[in-house]
Amino acid sequence: MIEFKLNGNIVRLEVSPDMPLLWVLRDILGLTGTKYGCGEGLCGACNVLLNDKAVHSCVTPVSRVQGMNVTTIEGLAAVENHPVLSAWIEEEAPECGYCQPGQIISATALLAENHSPTDSDIDEAMSQNLCRCGTYRRIRRAIHRARARMNKER
Ligand code: FES
Ligand code: FES
Repeated sequence: MIEFKLNGNIVRLEVSPDMPLLWVLRDILGLTGTKYGCGEGLCGACNVLLNDKAVHSCVTPVSRVQGMNVTTIEGLAAVENHPVLSAWIEEEAPECGYCQPGQIISATALLAENHSPTDSDIDEAMSQNLCRCGTYRRIRRAIHRARARMNKER
């Protein structure tokens, strides 16, 4: 039995401990906001927050999240006027959108630990997230916008 908190709610599952967290989220729990890209920990499409840090759920066995807090894009979307999501919309960051849940998760993790990231901090933190549409500049602007809003609210 694996037990963890998912978007604030306790989840208990009888699954193989080796099953990737991504499969659990998408195939068992029906949370399809987290995307499958490379399946090898290289693209960041599958990123989720594990106790506020971004991890690749495609290479994270579900046993690793036992007793931890997992947050997916659905969890962030449930927060009214979430500063990162709002900034993403205002900067029109997505193009096709496929990579964007993972990008937003990584940006949220960055802003949780760095309250005034520079462009190079952002580029470094986001370097594990690939976007085939090339939205990197808009993403960077959205992160600065989210940071400004969060600092105002602090
Ligand atoms: S799908 Fe997980 S890193 Fe690419
Ligand atoms: S918006 Fe299309 S892959 Fe990033």
